[in-house]
Amino acid sequence: MEFFRQYPLLTLNSLAIESSAEYFVQPDCDIEIQECLRFARANNLPVKVLGGGSNVVMSDHVSGLVLQFSGNACDVLHDTEESVTLKVEAGYSWHEFVMFCLSQGWFGLENLAYIPGNVGAAPVQNIGAYGVEVKERISAVNGVYLDSGQVFSFAGVECDFAYRESRFKQALNGRVLITSVEFKLSKLPQVQVSYAPLNKMARDKGVPTPSELAQWVIQVRQSKLPDPKTLPNAGSFFKNPVVTESEFKRLIERYPKMPGYPQSHGVKLAAGWLIDQLGFKGRAFGLVAVHELQALVLVNRGGTGEDVLSAARQVSQAVLECYGVELEQEPRLFS
Ligand code: EPU
Repeated sequence: MEFFRQYPLLTLNSLAIESSAEYFVQPDCDIEIQECLRFARANNLPVKVLGGGSNVVMSDHVSGLVLQFSGNACDVLHDTEESVTLKVEAGYSWHEFVMFCLSQGWFGLENLAYIPGNVGAAPVQNIGAYGVEVKERISAVNGVYLDSGQVFSFAGVECDFAYRESRFKQALNGRVLITSVEFKLSKLPQVQVSYAPLNKMARDKGVPTPSELAQWVIQVRQSKLPDPKTLPNAGSFFKNPVVTESEFKRLIERYPKMPGYPQSHGVKLAAGWLIDQLGFKGRAFGLVAVHELQALVLVNRGGTGEDVLSAARQVSQAVLECYGVELEQEPRLFS
């Protein structure tokens, strides 16, 4: 394990923002993590945890010790006829993990195929797509407090999961490193098809197997979402806002076609629709643009973190002025 100085982060963030870390290290086991935390304490450096880099906006320079855990082991904790419980280290690529599970006959993550990032980031923002949120499959999250080096293990129900939310994004934001996630998956090949484009495919082709469903999800994502390798982006740049029912009534009177999804508290709007209706698809703000096919995605053609944030501000300001709805940014600032 090596501590690098002034380490370039360009290839470690999916928005391809040029940035450098004061110190950078990639531990791959608990002992190395503890060594990193001791190094940081001895040198008075704040520790900044970087995962797959697919949900961050980098500043030009990141002070302190940037730590990227690279452990990627996957162990079976319990195995029954109907289900399996796995402990997966945080550095495992999310999509590779989903495909590995399918190859083993472990089901439940198909709808979440092709999401960029690593396993450790999945609980942080409770990744979700095509009718499934990862919280439904997580049984525990394990990690270490960055200040004390003490380990923790939270059961899924203790993680305060909600739409794109968890305690790791709230009270524990910036204070912990997630080292592994435990998943309970089914061995029964049931699929969940409850999203318009997938329903249509099921009508045309029949009920899919879990592996087929994963392929459909990959196809839908590839058709709408830009590949960060060729067009740098961080997926959805904004969360879908939730408004009160009376607020939704007001909006739908003015915009009868506005999509709205009832929640337990209020109605979730489609931020992509709000932005799209303003004619922003494909609109460039200097080097940063709204994606041509999915208005919720910002693409970066060589801009800085500040360029990305400035484009995001202009988009959210226009949405606020038109609809009176505030958009919340998804990717977190990494500075
Ligand atoms: N829409 C438009 N124009 C657009 C984009 C969307 O009119 O440019 C409309 C669609 O026609 C649809 C509605 O908005 O009526 C919702 O769009 P979509 O189904 O594409 O989903 P989304 O709300 O834009 C969310 C997630 C995605 C996830 C999809 C599918 C958030 C912030 N994003 O997007 O997650 O893949 O649902 O479940 O919740 C990500 O986080 O990076 C991501 C891609």
